[in-house]
Amino acid sequence: MISKTVIIVIVFFSTSYSQFCNNLNDNDDLDWWQTAVFYQIYPRSFMDSDGDGIGDLKGITSKLDHLKNLGVSATWLSPIFDSPQVDQGYDIRNYYEIDKDYGTMEDFKSLLEAAKELGIKIILDFVPNHTSDQHDWFLLSANRTKGYEDFYIWRDGKDGDPHSPPNNWLSEFKGSAWKWHEGRQQYYFHDFSEQQPDLNYRNPMVLEEMKKVILFWLDMGVSGFRMDAVPFLVEDATFADAPLARGYTACDIDPICLNRENILKDRDETYSIIYSFRALVDDYAKRNNLADPIVIMTEAYTTPENTVLYYGSSTDLGAHFTFNFNLLTNLPNSNFTVDDIANAINKWQVYLPKGATSNWVLGNHDNHRVASRVGQDNVDGFNMLTALLPGVMVTYNGEEIGMPDGEVTCEQGKDPAAIKNCSTFDQTSRDFERTPFQWDSSKYAGFSTSEPWLPVGSSKNWLNLAAQIDVKSHYSVYKDLITLKKNFKKRSIVDNLSIIKVNEQVLQVVRQRDEADYILLFNIGNSDQTITFYRKALDYEVVVTSITSQRSIGEKIDNLITLKAHESLILRSAELC
Ligand code: NOJ
Ligand code: MG
Repeated sequence: MISKTVIIVIVFFSTSYSQFCNNLNDNDDLDWWQTAVFYQIYPRSFMDSDGDGIGDLKGITSKLDHLKNLGVSATWLSPIFDSPQVDQGYDIRNYYEIDKDYGTMEDFKSLLEAAKELGIKIILDFVPNHTSDQHDWFLLSANRTKGYEDFYIWRDGKDGDPHSPPNNWLSEFKGSAWKWHEGRQQYYFHDFSEQQPDLNYRNPMVLEEMKKVILFWLDMGVSGFRMDAVPFLVEDATFADAPLARGYTACDIDPICLNRENILKDRDETYSIIYSFRALVDDYAKRNNLADPIVIMTEAYTTPENTVLYYGSSTDLGAHFTFNFNLLTNLPNSNFTVDDIANAINKWQVYLPKGATSNWVLGNHDNHRVASRVGQDNVDGFNMLTALLPGVMVTYNGEEIGMPDGEVTCEQGKDPAAIKNCSTFDQTSRDFERTPFQWDSSKYAGFSTSEPWLPVGSSKNWLNLAAQIDVKSHYSVYKDLITLKKNFKKRSIVDNLSIIKVNEQVLQVVRQRDEADYILLFNIGNSDQTITFYRKALDYEVVVTSITSQRSIGEKIDNLITLKAHESLILRSAELC
């Protein structure tokens, strides 16, 4: 069936471009990170060098050639610091040491050096909201040691009752956010697990200490920080009960039933803290005459209005970018529609502050893998989408080969929030997306020589990097996309974006740039679709094809085209300049 093209939105900025062709200059003022691909490594599951079943730094170093081959600009590592590993490293015992599971400081320095030689920047995970309950500061605070009494958030029980938490606040990991401490005879507050007490940012000493942590790692040579759980940095100082969220009559386990905004999260003070971290890293780069800026990216699951506040303003700069999770959280896991994708994109672009750099996150260690969310056959289309959309592309390790979630039972599980209650483990666990990277089809997928900390996914037999190297594969498509993205002229005077619903099953994205028009055609469904599509230029040729496509690179594309089920293509117009 031939269907009519419907443009559902959107031209963001529009100029006529032929007059600019003579002025094109590629060496202009865009910084390295503004068009970069950031590749997230989950160190525990990436590569194990010493056969203990746990990924480590030497393992990462040994696989840097994989990152180089992909063509990514930088990698951000989930936490590698000394930790009891209750929340897989998001519970830090010592911010200045490498966890023994991952190696030594020497190993880290070798990793930095090797990455530098390959031109790959290293970004660390910075966890400012909470420490481990085994951190010295917490032990000192629990003892009321002078200077540390208020490093954490301590309160008496309600009406002095040790069996009654101070208020109704709930933890992101379910249940009361207050834990009674026998030694101090008070409750302490924890947004996450009870082994992750929240730091008290109303105490200026806390901020000073965390700034020292940032400076320490900058001196070591890292290129930036991914900042964890930032909406939770500050809580309401009156400790009043949070009101019930609309539609709830009771609330004692899942914090979703509380209206947390301004009480447990998203408070104004939070943004100022991030702006102060930005001032710190900018000042550091300036004092040390660094050629490249130090980059801050913030992790905030909140409303789009609140998310973009992390960018700051021209007078109060904030994060270089704050993760855009819309393609993760705004798409239903199955049965998503073209409208859903278009809305997820538009919803972000309309809130993005003028002049801010956009970014697109498809996956991470807290959400089901792309293949499991959108279907194996749609992986290439989604990778194409995030590569073509303007700004930064963020990839979680394994998504470049289209890894689906692994299979993990509650008994094998490690996610502290999920193993508390096996009856809901399948719905709540984040272990599925954390299973080892599938390098090959051997017993432990080439990840380790012994039983890994989480089981290897059964898909390793048919889905692994080794099997994708010299053939048309998710991996080869991903590499083509990075090459395409890198070949964009850095600065484009014209950069128009249109998101078009061609029909119920076909999405079209048009990006008009100085040098050419690029078009993504993405058939998300499982039947062939014959369409006519919106085009400005006369001639288009195929530059990237999905594995579901039979077309060849360089093929000329007519106005009328039949897309196979789940076929996705990137087309490029003839050179304009
Ligand atoms: C966000 C991290 O991505 C997640 O894995 C962790 O459990 C929480 N923050 C707490 O640090
Ligand atoms: Mg907090």
